[in-house]
Amino acid sequence: MLTKAPKGTADILPEDSYKWQYVENKIRELCTSFGVQEIRTPVFEHTELFSRGVGDTTDVVEKEMYTFNDKGDRSITLRPEGTAGAARSFIENGLFNNPQPTKLFYQISCYRYEKPQAGRMREFHQFGVEYFGSSNAAADAEIIELALMLFEKLGIKGLKLRLNSIGCPDCRKKYNEKLKEYLFDNYEKLCDTCKSRFDRNPMRIIDCKSDICKDIIKDAPRLIDYLCDECSEHFASVKTSLSNVGIKYETDPDIVRGLDYYTRTVFEITADIESANTTICGGGRYDGLVEQLGGPKTPACGFAIGMERLFLALEANEVEIKADLSPDIYIGNIGENNLLTAQKLVYELRQKGISADCDKMSRSVKAQMKFANKLNAKFSVIIGDDEVQKGSAMIKNMALGESAEIELSSDKILEYIKNM
Ligand code: HAM
Repeated sequence: MLTKAPKGTADILPEDSYKWQYVENKIRELCTSFGVQEIRTPVFEHTELFSRGVGDTTDVVEKEMYTFNDKGDRSITLRPEGTAGAARSFIENGLFNNPQPTKLFYQISCYRYEKPQAGRMREFHQFGVEYFGSSNAAADAEIIELALMLFEKLGIKGLKLRLNSIGCPDCRKKYNEKLKEYLFDNYEKLCDTCKSRFDRNPMRIIDCKSDICKDIIKDAPRLIDYLCDECSEHFASVKTSLSNVGIKYETDPDIVRGLDYYTRTVFEITADIESANTTICGGGRYDGLVEQLGGPKTPACGFAIGMERLFLALEANEVEIKADLSPDIYIGNIGENNLLTAQKLVYELRQKGISADCDKMSRSVKAQMKFANKLNAKFSVIIGDDEVQKGSAMIKNMALGESAEIELSSDKILEYIKNM
C-alpha cells in the first residue's frame, strides 16, 4: 500500500515533467496573445458550489465527487472541474466591477471517482478558459479559436470540432415537455438513474451511457429543433464567426454535455486516438451560472482541455518534445580536499546563470567523468592539487574532445563557455 499510489492517479516523473512544462509554457504564451489571464483557485470548495453549479442530476455530482466532512464538520469537495470555482471567485472578488469581458485561464488538477482507463483518471489535469461578461457570439468563437490554435501550435492534427446549441431555459422548458412525451411509454425500461432524472432533468437522459437508455433515446426529439428565435440567431452567429476565420465544424444535435450549467452553445473537440476516450476538449456557454450562484446576471462561456488526453494526442501525432536538460559544465575533483574548490566554482557559475554541477557521491575521477558523460555535460574541468596550486586547469569540450587551459575563476570559465 505504502509504495503504491491510489488507483487512477499517476506520478509525473522527470522524464515527462519537462514535456508538461513545455505545453504549459505554450498555453501561457497563447493565453497572453488572447489577453487571457491566469486565475488560481483552491483545490477544494464547499460541496454545495458543485451540487448547485454543476447540477445534482449530473453523473459528476451524483456519482463521482470526492466529498468529505472536514474537522469543522463542513462538507468539502475536491474540485471535479474548474468552472464553478472560477465563477465563485468572479463573484466573491467582484471581478464583474472591472471592464468586461473578464478572460481567465487555469491549469489545475481535478478529481472524479471514475473507472480508470486510458485517458480517464481519478486525478487528472485540465487547462481551462472562462470568459465572463459577454453574450456576444464572438466570445464563443474566440474561445474555440484559442483551443484549436493551441492544438495547431502543438502539432496535433486530425481534430474534429462538433457544435450544438441547447438553447436557453425557455427553449428547454418546451423541449423537456416534448421529450417527456416521447419517453413516457418507455419510462419503465429506463435505468434507475434516468427514472429519477425524468422529472428533474429529462435532457440528462440523452447523455446516459446505459445501452438500453441509448436505444430508447436514439429517435427522441433533439433540442436544436426547439430553439427560440434569439437562440437560433445566436447559434447562427457563432457559426458565421467560426467560418469567418476558416474554422471547420460539424453540427451535432446529440451533444448535450454532462454538466447542467450550459445554455446555448456547447461543443466538443475530439482527437483520433486509438484506445483512449477521445473527447480532448469540452465547453460551451453558461449564461445562468453566475446569477444562480448569487452573483449579478453575467453571460459566460468557456472550455476545458484534458491534459492527459492532450498528451495521448501528442503521442498519437508522434510529436516529439525535446528538452536540453544537460548541464553546461561539470566540475570534477581529484580527492575530497578539492571538492570545496569545485563546489565554490559551481556556486558562482550558477549565480551567473550557467547550469553547473559537481560530485556529491564521493566518486573516483574516472567515475565522475563517466557520470558527466551520462549527464551530457557540454564542458568539464577536473581540479586536483596541481590545478589548485597553478590556479588553472584544462577545460574540455565534451562533444569535440578538445581541451584548452583556463584560469580557475568563474568569470574566465563563463567567458570561455559563452564564446564557444
Ligand atoms: P468536461 O467535459 O467534464 O467539462 O471536462 C473537460 C475535459 O476534461 C474532457 O473533455 C476531458 O478531456 C477531460 N476529462 C474529464 N474527465 C476526465 C478524467 N476522469 N480523466 C481525464 N480527463 C478527463 C468540464 O469540466 C467543464 N468545466 C468545461 C468547461 C469550462 N465548460 C465551460 N467552461
